[in-house]
Amino acid sequence: MQHLLSLFDIDTQQLKTILRTSAMLREGLAKGDRPAILQRMVIALLFEKPSLRTRVSFETGIAQLGGSSLFLGEDVGWGKRESPADFTNVLGQFVDAVVCRAKSHDRATQLASFNAVPIINGLTDLCHPCQSLADIATIEQALGTYEDKHVVFVGDGNNVSQSLALICAMLDMRFTLACPPEYEMDADWLTQIEAKYPKAKIVQTNDPTGAVVDADAIYTDVWTSMGQEVEAAQRRKVFADFQVNSKLMAAAPSTARVLHCLPAVRGQEITDDVIDSKQSDVIIQAGNRMHAQKALLVWMLNRAWVDKHVPAS
Ligand code: CP
Ligand code: NVA
Repeated sequence: MQHLLSLFDIDTQQLKTILRTSAMLREGLAKGDRPAILQRMVIALLFEKPSLRTRVSFETGIAQLGGSSLFLGEDVGWGKRESPADFTNVLGQFVDAVVCRAKSHDRATQLASFNAVPIINGLTDLCHPCQSLADIATIEQALGTYEDKHVVFVGDGNNVSQSLALICAMLDMRFTLACPPEYEMDADWLTQIEAKYPKAKIVQTNDPTGAVVDADAIYTDVWTSMGQEVEAAQRRKVFADFQVNSKLMAAAPSTARVLHCLPAVRGQEITDDVIDSKQSDVIIQAGNRMHAQKALLVWMLNRAWVDKHVPAS
């Protein structure tokens, strides 16, 4: 059974096919095409953390594809009312896939372990694969190609930066994380990337200004992720020199694009003048969540459509 707990679940060719499908669906939608590729399929969204983009982009994308979605919040009692096996096996009787936003990656992995229904990671503490699909689609849209581009993430070695590092390695792109000491990516995650993609061009540095000098895209995310709220005051101090502001942008090429997964804490990790500048693609990036996830769902649930309609390269 095909799950998408992280982008380690697919290979580079499959990733490129999903990205091509995303661009195709986006261009089609702009002309008014809403092909019913997932007609009568039902996809559950099982979320134990807040969400705007992930929830709404999945729900609208599924509707555009002729399917329907079912939002399952805290009241379904995941992990509280019955065993994880019973919970997942029952869901598998009803729905074609589950998009899951979990407090810990292990909880998402456990859901997938029963192979009762395809599980898609809609964010865990470890990674955010759907976000990184949209990030690369946005870079391609803004710069014409993602090939050979250098993505510089200024901020925390968190779920979003970890997924970006992996997707850049898969696509032979350069990735730099500029972060304070001790806020680097998870060492096991990096080891796994370098084991599977030995040519990965990943650098971690504590110097944001030096990192952005040849950046094609400058990316940031909140300093305090969901679940880390008790560390917020400490993190504000530690990350103070890692703000994406006009001074940092002056050190970067004027052609560099600005990305943020959102939601942002304006005035903290990024200033208003930068996030609202002509270099910023953050709203298009949010919109690409829907196109990329539609492509992912179609690839996972109706591969025959992809084989028939999406060019091989
Ligand atoms: N970027 C992102 O995943 O946003 P939400 O938390 O609103 O889904
Ligand atoms: N790193 C953030 C991303 C939110 C989309 C978090 O986990 O809260």
